[in-house]
Amino acid sequence: MKALILVGGFGTRLRPLTLSVPKPLVDFANKPMILHQIEALKAIGVTEVVLAINYQPEVMMSFLKDFESKLGIKITCSRETEPLGTAGPLALARDKLIDESGDPFFVLNSDVICEYPLEQMIKFHKAHGGEASIMVTKVDEPSKYGVVVMEETTGKVEKFVEKPKIFVGNKINAGIYLLNPSVLDRIQLRPTSIEKEVFPKIAAEQKLFAMVLPGFWMDIGQPRDYITGLRLYLDALRKNTSSKLSSGSHILGNVLVHETAVIGEGCLIGPDVAIGPGCVVEAGVRLSRCTVMRGARIKKHACISSSIIGWHCTVGQWARVENMTILGEDVHVCDEIYSNGGVVLPHKEIKSSILKPDIVM
Ligand code: GDD
Ligand code: MG
Repeated sequence: MKALILVGGFGTRLRPLTLSVPKPLVDFANKPMILHQIEALKAIGVTEVVLAINYQPEVMMSFLKDFESKLGIKITCSRETEPLGTAGPLALARDKLIDESGDPFFVLNSDVICEYPLEQMIKFHKAHGGEASIMVTKVDEPSKYGVVVMEETTGKVEKFVEKPKIFVGNKINAGIYLLNPSVLDRIQLRPTSIEKEVFPKIAAEQKLFAMVLPGFWMDIGQPRDYITGLRLYLDALRKNTSSKLSSGSHILGNVLVHETAVIGEGCLIGPDVAIGPGCVVEAGVRLSRCTVMRGARIKKHACISSSIIGWHCTVGQWARVENMTILGEDVHVCDEIYSNGGVVLPHKEIKSSILKPDIVM
């Protein structure tokens, strides 16, 4: 089986992290977002993943080359010369997606995180006999997603409305599809949207089916959702493979610490924290609801909550970093600084406090 991951877009909502790497390579729970997806695809027997890229393909491919052999899966790139939207890339990659088997193929948005029940989706797809399956999930704020109205018992989609202005329902497109090759005959090679131009038509022909996604789901393409997504991800990890989480008197709730990270004496860490490879957390540090990415150093008695600390940053002694502070790569926060929602571009040194949410260029 094959799969295509949509990795276009500039990831502007996840700046400043996406100033350093394309969005799918931003770490989530200690590994690049896209690896969560590639590993899940590999686990159910997908043999080739096509990355539909329109931006910095070299960065992406050189990073993923290593993982091809480590994971034993073929990773290829289908490069657009102009952004083709969410459907055009499928037409462009047509020859890579179709093979003699006539098998359906997966399509994934690159910024969603869940438990990827892909095996269940294959069963669902075979059972309904339609042309396309999509996963749906319930959210409180459906207007920023694609909303799906479906027949509860069969899953048959009656209506698909992308980003509706008025309330249609609260089940939304989770960005995970299983499509028969025939869907490709509906897509022209031009910038076009699968949500606006393809799904509504398949639904009108009663050949689009939706499966309610079991477990958690989050689009982690924005900082607030990224932090919520980490909480949900760690909750699921607690249920499924709790041995991966840290334990001890200095740990509160769900905390993921990379084996190469070093934690000093007298820290209190958690809940909902991820500490990446090579990080150093010095003595007496307090961390909650935050991500500390690869190579960062958190100095003595610093306190960080509800924030993302990018790769190779340092946070000084007694500094206090909170309220959706996002530090880009290699930012240095001096000792005793306070950051209340500072969004700091890569390679900056912060010498004075950021008292209210602001972008530091
Ligand atoms: N290759 C390529 N080319 N990929 C693209 C392009 C493009 O021109 N434009 C967007 N993408 C990719 C993005 O990188 C992302 O993985 C996916 O397509 C969806 O684009 P987003 O920009 O993240 O869309 P969204 O989050 O507003 O809405 C989509 O996702 C929601 C779930 O998170 C839609 O699919 C909604 O229906 C859905 O509910
Ligand atoms: Mg998105």
